[in-house]
Amino acid sequence: MRDYIQFVLDGEIVTESRLDPTMTVLQYLRERRMKTGTKEGCAEGDCGACTVVLDELVDGKIRSRAVNTCILFIGTLDGKELRTVEGIGTPDTPNKIQELVADKHASQCGFCTPGIVMSLVALQTDDLPRTRDNIDEALAGNLCRCTGYGPIIDAAMAMGGEAGIPDNAQALKALQHGELVKLSANIYGTDKRFFIPKTVIQLAKLLGEYPKTTLLAGGTDIGLWVTK
Ligand code: FES
Ligand code: FES
Repeated sequence: MRDYIQFVLDGEIVTESRLDPTMTVLQYLRERRMKTGTKEGCAEGDCGACTVVLDELVDGKIRSRAVNTCILFIGTLDGKELRTVEGIGTPDTPNKIQELVADKHASQCGFCTPGIVMSLVALQTDDLPRTRDNIDEALAGNLCRCTGYGPIIDAAMAMGGEAGIPDNAQALKALQHGELVKLSANIYGTDKRFFIPKTVIQLAKLLGEYPKTTLLAGGTDIGLWVTK
């Protein structure tokens, strides 16, 4: 059994242990890694300000999704890759989408902008054509209350079709262990345990041992139990 998790963060393999298993990925990024480009708005999975791209290997191929880090627990990153708005480009060398958002005046206060950029990065790495419907769908979880969606959609429509997925399949393959993972920490006198089974047999054994455990898959509700 491992007592640590490993994941790729903006191209770098990271190993973490002894973290509060209910720490959100947003807290981790902003407070542990000082990656404050990813914003907190609602902290309940509604506004999209905290969006990053999560890549994982599915049948040997990378699948990319835009996810809300404010309700995603750190342990769920094991074996996956996280791309943040800071990782895809810098002020001197912006990503094409970051450039388009600036050129098309698709940002005013800028609070929603990192999340919008990352949702568009996820769309760009998808195989879907850049139709208005697909763009609307990709941005459906991102609220902007000051720019108005016209310029944001103009920026999205101007994106090229190139995939732009960094080739980190090798790094991700190296992280695919079959071992059960247990993260644990004592937080203010409370023992917290987070198990990451990798097989159905491991899951069945754990459920036998801890029948009252909470099963987590996604976290849209369970994330709120913690953040609220
Ligand atoms: S902060 Fe609003 S969805 Fe995460
Ligand atoms: S630019 Fe202000 S909320 Fe979108």
